[in-house]
This record gives sequence, structure tokens and C-alpha cells, in this order.
Amino acid sequence: MSIAICPGSFDPITLGHLNIIRRTSRIFDRVIVCVMFNSTKTSPMFTVEERVDMVRRAVSRYPNVTVDSYSGLLAEYAKAHEGAVLVKGLRAASDFEYEFQMNLINKKINPSLETMFLTSDGKYTFLSSSVVREMAQYGADLSGLVPNEIIEDIERKAKQWRSHDGK
Ligand code: PNS
Repeated sequence: MSIAICPGSFDPITLGHLNIIRRTSRIFDRVIVCVMFNSTKTSPMFTVEERVDMVRRAVSRYPNVTVDSYSGLLAEYAKAHEGAVLVKGLRAASDFEYEFQMNLINKKINPSLETMFLTSDGKYTFLSSSVVREMAQYGADLSGLVPNEIIEDIERKAKQWRSHDGK
């Protein structure tokens, strides 16, 4: 059975992420979406539990996709899923530089681990979780950016953030 791992911080999951996950689910028998920590992103909008819950609702229509979380190294997580391949989306050349480096680090830790890249659908090349967080803070319309199932979660959280800031 072929297994793909789609890792990310998913803070929150966007339609660009979902597009990569859906396309991966057509290529592999099983897809594990793994919600992880990115040490460069220090103040997340959502807790890991909230992110897992939102990803679960967003992927519920895909029967071969499951959701997990892990707080350690991605290459170590992959060791527990023998033969699994990492699948990541690439939006632009700038993504490639970062992902190329990550691929080399992951291979150093787990030499048999392979990473495959899917190019982003053209309509999502501008989209990122940070764009969504920024839009949400200004109360902008999030439809077309994130799965409909999680729009209310983001709006609710953004409202809490605004009230804490006294805005
Ligand atoms: O969605 P992101 O934030 O671009 O995903 C990056 C992520 C979470 C996949 C990456 O930061 C990661 O692999 N984190 C787990 C820790 C790890 O293995 N780091 C790489 C070796 S230093």
C-alpha cells in the first residue's frame, strides 16, 4: 500500500493545502495529513488540537485521508510509517529553496525518506495561512481562501484577537 504524508502547520488549512491533499489522495492509497510545529512560526492563531479538528472537517470527504499530529521531527515521524513518502506543495521558486533545504535535512535524519513535490494550482499561488490570518484580522471575506467548513472558526478566533487588542 502506498502511503503519503502531507506535513504542515496548517494554521489554518487553506484551499491551496486542500488542493494538494486532494491531488495526493488520487495518487497514493492512503494519505496522512500531519499537523506539526514550525519553530519559525512562534505565535500560532490556533492550537494544534484546533488545527487538527479543522483539517479533519476539511478532509472528511476524502475516504483515504486521515489526520494526525506530531510534536517531534518530521523525519522521525515518517520512520513509523515504513515506505511513506512526504508530499509537499510548491507555489513559487522561493518555496523551492526552503523545501530543498528541508528535504536535505530530512534525508540526513532518515536517508530512505523520499519527498515529492506537487506544483500549486495556479489559482492558489498567492494563498498562504499567513494571508488568511491577516485577512481575518481585518474582518475580510474568507470565502474562496479556506474550506467553508472552517470559516466560522477563523472568524470567531479573529474576533477574540481583535477584542483582546481593544480594537
Ligand atoms: O506549513 P509549514 O509551516 O510550511 O510546514 C513546515 C513543517 C511543519 C512541515 C516543518 O517546520 C517541519 O517539518 N516541522 C517539524 C520539525 C522538523 O522536522 N523540522 C525539520 C528539521 S530541522
